[in-house]
Amino acid sequence: MTEPQEGALSLAPAYLAEQAALVSQELQRLFSDPHQPKSLFDSMHYSLMAGGKRLRPVLCLAVGRSFGVQEADLLPVAVALEILHTYSLIHDDLPTMDDDDLRRGQPTNHRVFGEATALLAGDALLTYAFEQLAKPAAIPAQRQLRMVQVLASAAGCFGMVAGQVADLEAEGTPGSMDTLRFIHLHKTARLVEASVQLGAIFAGVDAAVEEALCKFGRSLGLAFQIADDLLDVIGDTAALGKTVGSDERMSKLTYPKLVGVDETKRLMQVAHAEALAALDSVQVDAPLLRSLANFVIARGV
Ligand code: IPE
Ligand code: IPE
Ligand code: MG
Ligand code: MG
Ligand code: MG
Repeated sequence: MTEPQEGALSLAPAYLAEQAALVSQELQRLFSDPHQPKSLFDSMHYSLMAGGKRLRPVLCLAVGRSFGVQEADLLPVAVALEILHTYSLIHDDLPTMDDDDLRRGQPTNHRVFGEATALLAGDALLTYAFEQLAKPAAIPAQRQLRMVQVLASAAGCFGMVAGQVADLEAEGTPGSMDTLRFIHLHKTARLVEASVQLGAIFAGVDAAVEEALCKFGRSLGLAFQIADDLLDVIGDTAALGKTVGSDERMSKLTYPKLVGVDETKRLMQVAHAEALAALDSVQVDAPLLRSLANFVIARGV
């Protein structure tokens, strides 16, 4: 493992807590007026406010901060990422997908609101995310359009949805490292990469820096999903807020299943080191980003 830099380690928890609170506050504000049908808005609000880590929006804000953008200016973009991510969780938990009962420490959306409402709340969150992203912003329209393209590509048939389909199709198969990497890079890493990239585009960094930041986000996303696989085996249901052992129950193709727990930990560290190396490659001085990367990895060790 690349040794975390002194000081970089301590930045993440405080920043994450502070900015996650800002994201939650904004989500609460967006849904404070009553709308009809009540069941739809209750269902969307339920999952949004159930208490996620807010990692994707905070990563986006941290990239912005690293290049001089105020968090308040980037907030609609950050919030769009969390809204889209929350849709993916609601659908991921449905009986026809991972069939899970617990999410963010609470009963899954379909358990409370029924499958049809959960499905439609997911649809509504996905589209609402783009409504947020397209809000008037203090950047050139060309840059904003690129942000929309990047998020759409990361979430759709070239990104997360491709990964989710591959994940389902790999259930019960012996699998291979190539398949597993495809799944993780698409179902999870593409959205983490997009979170970083949207912050970079908003900040107007040059092409080489944006590419390095994308690589950082992609590797971090891979490390994050490897940690998620690991925690499904060695984690704790109460601490995670989701039921451990879900992957084994569904015969998922995961890192621990394919290569065992020890090798999974090693590969997680390799992905983490690649993330940090990407920042080094363009001499981006971003202690906050290093700190967040270390925080992600600390969950899985
Ligand atoms: C869960 O994401 C789904 C994965 C891609 C692993 P998080 O672990 O970020 O979940 P929340 O948002 O904190 O609930
Ligand atoms: C989820 O992967 C990826 C998504 C796009 C939501 P998992 O199925 O492993 O996520 P958890 O473990 O249910 O949070
Ligand atoms: Mg899944
Ligand atoms: Mg799942
Ligand atoms: Mg999982």
